[in-house]
Amino acid sequence: MYTWDELQIKIKQCDRCPLARSRQQAVPGRGNRKAKIMLVAEAPGSQEDQQGIPFVGPAGRVLDLLLASVQLRRQDVYMTNVVKCHPPGNGDPTPEAQEACLPFLRCETLLLQPPVIVCLGRIAAQRLIDPQFKISRQHGSWVHRKGYWMTAVYHPAAILRDPARLEDAKQDFQAVLAKLREIEEAQYPL
Ligand code: URA
Repeated sequence: MYTWDELQIKIKQCDRCPLARSRQQAVPGRGNRKAKIMLVAEAPGSQEDQQGIPFVGPAGRVLDLLLASVQLRRQDVYMTNVVKCHPPGNGDPTPEAQEACLPFLRCETLLLQPPVIVCLGRIAAQRLIDPQFKISRQHGSWVHRKGYWMTAVYHPAAILRDPARLEDAKQDFQAVLAKLREIEEAQYPL
């Protein structure tokens, strides 16, 4: 277990998998360290690889739109990826890269202790919720595990490929806010 600052350094210096040799730089999670919502996506894209910041490319603009649809800004959430380095050619991160990177995600989760975790896309949902997770059928469904409420929504890049998914994703984000309200009301019944 690391502090936030140690974690950033460990991620930046990591060479636990072959992505360390092809990346420009590792991309640690970023955002509000007291956020109640943790967004977990797949892996940095090429612009993220160049800048070292998650969701600065085209998918990031879709993410901003989704957040704005529920009156949230990036500063209100914490966002990270299952794998912290860009897979060359934008392919799915290999199971080996995911395994190697998982301790960082665990550490982020323990530091943040978010009531709600939102998986962005299939890779995160299959890693965090269920290896058989089918994003087109199961987006917007909820599981409660180890004290965290978890759901999955379409990945912003998938929305770019098929804009018809935007409405579903907006509705799923509305449900995220509703879930947070429900959790808070259960904690403070008066
Ligand atoms: N896509 C992702 O999955 N993560 C990012 O940080 C950017 C694009």
